[in-house]
Amino acid sequence: MDFELKTLTLTRICSEKCDALLVLTPQDLRAGDDALSALAALALESGDFEAKPGKLLSAYRTPGIAATRVLLVGAGDGSLKSVRNAVNTGLGALKVSNAQRIVLCLGALNNLKSDAVRAAVVACGDATYLYSSTKSKVSTAKLQHVVVAVNDAATAKAGFDKGTALVKGIEFAREWANRPANHATPTLLAGAAKGLGKLRNIKVEVLGPREVARLGMGAFMAVAQGTAEPLRFIVLRYEGAARAEAPVVLVGKGITFDSGGISIKPSAEMDEMKFDMCGAASVLGAFRVLGELQPALNVVGLIPACENLLGGRAVKPGDVVTSMSGQTIEILNTDAEGRLVLCDALTYAERFKPRAVVDIATLTGACVIALGGVRSALFSTDESLARSLADAGESSLDLCWRMPLDEEYAEGLKTSFADVANIAGKAAGVVTAAKFLQRFAANFPWAHLDIAGTAWKRGAAKGATGRPVPLLVDFLLGQAAAAVAPGKAPSRAKPVKTRRAVAKARV
Ligand code: BES
Ligand code: MN
Ligand code: ZN
Repeated sequence: MDFELKTLTLTRICSEKCDALLVLTPQDLRAGDDALSALAALALESGDFEAKPGKLLSAYRTPGIAATRVLLVGAGDGSLKSVRNAVNTGLGALKVSNAQRIVLCLGALNNLKSDAVRAAVVACGDATYLYSSTKSKVSTAKLQHVVVAVNDAATAKAGFDKGTALVKGIEFAREWANRPANHATPTLLAGAAKGLGKLRNIKVEVLGPREVARLGMGAFMAVAQGTAEPLRFIVLRYEGAARAEAPVVLVGKGITFDSGGISIKPSAEMDEMKFDMCGAASVLGAFRVLGELQPALNVVGLIPACENLLGGRAVKPGDVVTSMSGQTIEILNTDAEGRLVLCDALTYAERFKPRAVVDIATLTGACVIALGGVRSALFSTDESLARSLADAGESSLDLCWRMPLDEEYAEGLKTSFADVANIAGKAAGVVTAAKFLQRFAANFPWAHLDIAGTAWKRGAAKGATGRPVPLLVDFLLGQAAAAVAPGKAPSRAKPVKTRRAVAKARV
């Protein structure tokens, strides 16, 4: 799908030929000289249409309007959430039509913010993504072209560009997450990462079993030893700032299929464990966006990717392994494998002397019980990092909620046979998993996002959501802005203003 941003008055929009005109309508819309606002004002006045989110009024071949269909959708209070709802409502109603080219009119909204433009574009992308890579007939979305019409394209441009970049990143994450495990093996996932290496300022390196063994990643290797499919450790670098600038490190859990291992899962819904690499997919998606937007910061992406299967060589409950950090781990449950692959990736992250490390993982079923599909769970050892991530969740409509890390929660991880066990009791499973990870994140500001509830939808609409790509991108862009804010630049690096300034600094 492609997007186009245009400055169009309501009068001009009336003569714009398209299959459908989607008008985000505020309750206080006044009639002007054009047919469109006259129609909307009349509908509002008569009470036949209310501008609440989710409300819709559609008209066909309306006099004075060139568009085949006009859909008035309620924009409610004009908040980002209402804008998203309105676009969803409108595109939902258009699903049955054959609309290929639509105009999305945002010009009727009062003091339109650039963020609202972004929200509208992202909602369009979300609503029109179609999975087809393992179907014999390639189905493409009917909707091909969206013209985003605003009163002033110049002020909307930043939000529009962010939105279109995000659509690409979210789509990339959804696509790889949705692919079945036999079409998204660790090797194929590494191939997808390598593809991102074609983008400007992105470099990708992939380590295999031998290199990982040399690094001493005993916890990661233990998970991978039950399958014939070789593991991959993917290292992505986005270099948008001077080399001296400490990077943000993103670590994504990349279990391409989680059977549970010897502690095997029940069969019902086990297919959903192909989504156990959604953390990894979100890191790839975020890099896709970085490649597009080229912000002035450095980011490293680390993805430990493997299958968690069972077999004659599989790791067994009670086995003790040595992690890269030197800490020994008693694997009491082979289904608590995410933390095992992540702990070695966290230790690996130390070599980048990061300014912050954020891991993203479909880590616990307990997280789904605690927060459902609305908010991801956020844990952090650093107040300012926690605030930045929570704020990024709000501004991108990709919400998370801070959870506790009290030392008492680590009690159950104690064992007589190793430095730490990989499971605690039944209580607060989402927290005890985070407490396990925290042991490997002592040397940098660290945050952990458990996305088990938010990364994919269950039931009839089963499929990856692309979350938390929007949150990560807002967080990273915020980090880039913080680096250039006067007085806020980290002391180890010169403040970097623009890409050109960076290029100069390098020579
Ligand atoms: N990938 C799962 C977590 C998961 C389960 C995510 C269901 C989404 C839906 C993870 O590897 C896992 O199996 N965790 C166990 C941990 C337990 C053994 C302590 C869990 O949550 O049951
Ligand atoms: Mn598991
Ligand atoms: Zn898992």
